[in-house]
Amino acid sequence: MSGKSLAGKTALVTGAAKRIGRAISIALADEGANIIVHYRGSEEEARELLNELARRGVKSWDVKADFEKPGEYESLIHRALDLAGGIDILVNSASIFPPEKLDEVTLAGLMTNIEVNAWAPFVLSRDFASLAGKGHIVNILDSRINDADWNHVGYILSKHVLSKMTDMMAIAYAPEIAVNAVAPGLILPPPGKDQEYIERLKNTVPLKKHGEADDIADAVVFLAKSSFITGEVIYVDGGRHLKEYSNG
Ligand SMILES: NC(=O)c1ccc[n+]([C@@H]2O[C@H](COP(=O)([O-])OP(=O)(O)OC[C@H]3O[C@@H](n4cnc5c(N)ncnc54)[C@H](OP(=O)(O)O)[C@@H]3O)[C@@H](O)[C@H]2O)c1
Repeated sequence: MSGKSLAGKTALVTGAAKRIGRAISIALADEGANIIVHYRGSEEEARELLNELARRGVKSWDVKADFEKPGEYESLIHRALDLAGGIDILVNSASIFPPEKLDEVTLAGLMTNIEVNAWAPFVLSRDFASLAGKGHIVNILDSRINDADWNHVGYILSKHVLSKMTDMMAIAYAPEIAVNAVAPGLILPPPGKDQEYIERLKNTVPLKKHGEADDIADAVVFLAKSSFITGEVIYVDGGRHLKEYSNG
């Protein structure tokens, strides 16, 4: 019998194939959790992660869904439950991050950000609450929810929506389900930027460094193991949310 604290639990991690989602999946597996790997396009990376998880001695499955296609995310929890038989932890990490300044925002673009980054996580959470019935939800936000991201306006507005939904779901789904969030700061360079990009921004962080995907994973594991925290946001950003962000 494993002494690991999440042994026997099953976690569904969205956007799990790469980067932060992958680190979260591995960290949960290292605590003994079985993992349902959600991906959209990164099939090869998802398969590679399944192999990595198998080497860690946990069970794993993959599920595909595009969060711009309602039929795909509305069936996701059902499909995941059919595969794994139960879900105890839902981590909403998948997101889009399109660059867009205030004068470039369109209604269609805003709605896509909201659908992928807030609405789909909410639908998954609501289905998880009604079909799984108990456990933990951890939403991945962004430490700029304290302020703004003037270069990704639709994105940051969608994270504000998910942040408020986190509070509302924490009340609505108690006492069976704890709903919390992790707000990452400067962790990995966004698509199209290299490592030098985040190295240059280190000076904007009070702790004068960028974080690692494992820092986010550690916070998710902490929340998934907790029995007395709900409606909380853990900022994993070296203190950056305490300082004003660039106004673009
Ligand atoms: N990276 C950072 O420094 C940072 C900073 C602040 C906040 N965050 C937050 O932390 C989380 C993870 O960040 P990340 O940088 O690892 O994310 P990412 O690499 O930009 O995206 C994670 C995954 O989201 C999935 N995804 C994108 N569009 C989708 C869609 N329409 N339907 C379903 N899945 C979709 C992709 O899956 P496929 O590859 O399978 O298509 C992708 O691998 C996100 O919520 C992000 O907002 C990250």
